Amino acid sequence: MHDALLLEAIERFGSPLYVYDFDALCSTARALLAAFARHDVQVLYAVKANSNARVLQALHCEGLAFDACSVGEVQLLLRLGISPSRVHFNADAVTLDEMRSLTRTVGGRDVELTVGSLDHLRALVHPDVAWARPIALRLNTGFGAGHSAAVTTGGELSKFGLSLEDLDEALAWCLHHQVRCTGFHSHAGSGIGSVRDYLENARRLVAVALACGLSLDTLNVGGGFPHDYGNGQGLDFDLDSLAAAVESLAAPLRQRSARLRLLVEPGRCLVAGAGVLLCTVASVKRCGDRQYVSVDSGFHHLARPFLYGAYHGIDNLSASPDAPQTRVDIVGQLCQSGDVFARDRGLAQPRVGDRLCIRDAGAYGYAMSSNYNARPRPAEVALMNDQLQLIRRRETLDDLLRLQTLEKHTC
Ligand SMILES: Cc1ncc(COP(=O)(O)O)c(C=O)c1O
Repeated sequence: MHDALLLEAIERFGSPLYVYDFDALCSTARALLAAFARHDVQVLYAVKANSNARVLQALHCEGLAFDACSVGEVQLLLRLGISPSRVHFNADAVTLDEMRSLTRTVGGRDVELTVGSLDHLRALVHPDVAWARPIALRLNTGFGAGHSAAVTTGGELSKFGLSLEDLDEALAWCLHHQVRCTGFHSHAGSGIGSVRDYLENARRLVAVALACGLSLDTLNVGGGFPHDYGNGQGLDFDLDSLAAAVESLAAPLRQRSARLRLLVEPGRCLVAGAGVLLCTVASVKRCGDRQYVSVDSGFHHLARPFLYGAYHGIDNLSASPDAPQTRVDIVGQLCQSGDVFARDRGLAQPRVGDRLCIRDAGAYGYAMSSNYNARPRPAEVALMNDQLQLIRRRETLDDLLRLQTLEKHTC
């Protein structure tokens, strides 16, 4: 997205602002789908990465199916008119109430369900649920990977999935209760650094599936494909060879079951690069040797730097090309010292009112935002066919207060 267009967006729609390049989004989706289709692997989009309705619709039009991790995500997808057969519900820690709600939402339709605990399995036979369709089991293979420990979802420190020690009990339970288990799933983590690590988890999953002797309909080897955030680390991740390797790893299972569908469920790599967060410099000040640049945003809008120390490229859109470069700490406006987007970062000398662009913010950006400090969320704008279009309006204080009872409190 050209800087001039981003400046136009922030002038028209206000600051701070998320902008998504839908052409980039769709071409990334097409390339990914093509790479995996060559190896007969279906791609589900992990909705949690960015659940803006227009993003979901665009990805749906490109032919993606969806991985939903909450009943709310399932409801959102169905409300958008997405066929239930393209929705996979894959949540951990699902309560009986949530299963009731899912059952009501889904009716008799064929949403695919993945179960990650014995307690979730037990909920399936509750009379209010009476889940009649086949299910898949999410397994913790003992192997995890990811850009941070907080997003590593395999191994003993991860809460996700059935541990392999519980697998026999789970399969026996399914047999006893006539719940058909026809799929296995495992997701090692988010932002996995190498194809080798990704495949290690897939290899373990295939080995478990072979040892169980089941004839499977689905094998989902998870998401977690990384995105290059531009911090010079590069990516050791070729999706084409990954897809080929998944196909060949699963070949013995396919021999056992010709029906077997291979699935992956990436989120980040589809949307991260298509989005930016634009914001405005509120103050520039010194503290000792440091120069602090505060902006009208923070971890309530983009939590990744705060949560994981994650890197995002940041540019000063307002600076003239010959503006001197300086080193600054770019910080948010929240009442926490950790509200920092970047430390000691090179930036064209900022002035109050300058517009900054935080790059690669399309994944786990707005999706993880909050109203901390009673701050409304930004608007979201799509760039489609060279046109800017508002796809979610900015929140107002009324939006924040909507759920509270505001009767006068008598002291
Ligand atoms: C089960 C599951 N699938 C898919 C994803 C998507 O991961 P990513 O956005 O890194 O591709 C996640 C996120 O951690 C997840 O928990």
